Amino acid sequence: MGAIVDRLLTPLLYAVLYPVRKVKVGVFTRIKDSHIEKNVKIGSFSFISGSTIRKGAGIGNFNKIVDSVIGKYSYTNERTTIINTKIGNYCSISWNVTIGAPEHPLDRFTTHPITYSEKYQNSVGLLHKGFDQHPRGTTEIGHDVWIGANVIIRSGTRIGTGAVIGAGSVVTKDVPPYAIVAGVPAKIIRFRFPEDVRKALLRSRWWEKDPTELKEIDLLNELLG
Ligand SMILES: CC(C)(COP(=O)(O)OP(=O)(O)OC[C@H]1O[C@@H](n2cnc3c(N)ncnc32)[C@H](O)[C@@H]1OP(=O)(O)O)[C@@H](O)C(=O)NCCC(=O)NCCS
Repeated sequence: MGAIVDRLLTPLLYAVLYPVRKVKVGVFTRIKDSHIEKNVKIGSFSFISGSTIRKGAGIGNFNKIVDSVIGKYSYTNERTTIINTKIGNYCSISWNVTIGAPEHPLDRFTTHPITYSEKYQNSVGLLHKGFDQHPRGTTEIGHDVWIGANVIIRSGTRIGTGAVIGAGSVVTKDVPPYAIVAGVPAKIIRFRFPEDVRKALLRSRWWEKDPTELKEIDLLNELLG
């Protein structure tokens, strides 16, 4: 009931805040314990909890963003789920993408949450045994990463700046900066640029600037020849 009221009131609350913070929130979206910076757009029917959405970022419709950071000017498309993940700036994340999905225990008599979720402790009466749903730690996505449609990125994986993840890939291992990976499991197809250009781009840290400040963009194009 509270969640429904939240979903009805949140867009209204942000409509009032909109002129001040320039934050736009679609209908039936719920935002809980989160920090939303200015010029952020959030679609309809989405759920955001325990997260920071940084300046200029965009969240699509039917998204679930939990315990995560979405960097400046990064955006997601429809039906994307991001959990316990840090995402850098200027990332393009497509539709139906799942990043950082939690694990279930493999070595207990059941993988079902009855052995570790507090939700079941009273009803089933099982002893609460802690279980780390992210045993490989926080998932980390660098800057300027393009993630294609229907991708799954395993919890705890690190994706380097400038990487591209091909449509439909399942990423189970870390991806180096500027690599293009694809397939199930994802493998490196090639790198976007030769090593000297990759190093120069990483050194430039262009993603720390706002689009209006990116006057060096010509310089970067020169770098790419
Ligand atoms: C990965 C991608 C960017 C293409 O990269 P590319 O370097 O131009 O790749 P190529 O077309 O030269 O293909 C190279 C090889 O990778 C394979 N490949 C390309 N994309 C693939 C994918 N998504 N999954 C599996 N294999 C793929 C090709 O079949 C080819 O294999 P081969 O060498 O055996 O013939 C593109 O295929 C892709 O997946 N784009 C994402 C599109 C999308 O999801 N858009 C959503 C809007 S945000």
